[in-house]
Amino acid sequence: MSSQQCKNSESCSGVWCRFRDGQPEYLVRHYWWAYLWRWGVWFFDHQPIINAILFGQYKTLSHRALRDCMKERPEGRMLQLTCAYGSMTPSLLKEMDDELYLMDVADIQLKATRKKLAAMDKERLLCARMNAEYLAYADDAFATVLIFFLLHELPPEARERSISEAIRVLQPGGRLVVTEYGACPKKHLLWRFPVTRWVLQRLEPFLESFWQVDLFAMLDRHARTQGKVIRQVDEFHCFAGFYRVCVFELEQSLE
Ligand SMILES: C[S@@+](CC[C@H](N)C(=O)[O-])C[C@H]1O[C@@H](n2cnc3c(N)ncnc32)[C@H](O)[C@@H]1O
Repeated sequence: MSSQQCKNSESCSGVWCRFRDGQPEYLVRHYWWAYLWRWGVWFFDHQPIINAILFGQYKTLSHRALRDCMKERPEGRMLQLTCAYGSMTPSLLKEMDDELYLMDVADIQLKATRKKLAAMDKERLLCARMNAEYLAYADDAFATVLIFFLLHELPPEARERSISEAIRVLQPGGRLVVTEYGACPKKHLLWRFPVTRWVLQRLEPFLESFWQVDLFAMLDRHARTQGKVIRQVDEFHCFAGFYRVCVFELEQSLE
């Protein structure tokens, strides 16, 4: 829907409406300032800022995710499921000598990621604009899929669809690396202190629902529906369990 069409619609009178350009409504409504507004994209894509947002844990989490993607990496293509601020994509490309597939529903994010790359690495980044809920890749297309802090930003139905799609495009024997908030951190200072909890809930409207999810159970349900078997092979926690990096693998098919 174009922004012009939006202005005419009664339900679309907020600032966010101007940023609509084919993305899901939740993204535009709740995150336009962080992912779609050019000054927001400029501001957040600075290492100290993204590190501050993750309470100083960016390096630990990105290094761990990188290690989990690359260590004895299954043979085949790698997909990064949506862009991420910081050095994640450039670091992945530095470690790989083949292509990295990257998709995102926001053009401005794909362009910002490309800008961060050296000329030679740009050629190996295969960008495509698409919705994580409806991936335009074939079944079993990838050997590795990385999801870096996406799931908590999705409303529950979008989260279910994106997980289902991630499993669909992952080949048997393939690896899924998920970097995310940990399980509901009821004992963590940031959760117990009402002000920080309130700020987190305001900035991340779907985090509360993500905290209620049993990640493995959700992955397992979607894998079974598709006749695949998933198992968790690693889980790393940091910042007193506030964040985690989980590694899952699909079992090899017996055929
Ligand atoms: C990976 S998440 C959060 C990343 C994290 N805050 C960071 O930068 O480290 C943010 C990205 O997800 C994208 N995104 C959100 N919902 C999406 C969807 N349904 N399909 C594709 N991309 C989506 C946004 O456009 C944005 O580029």
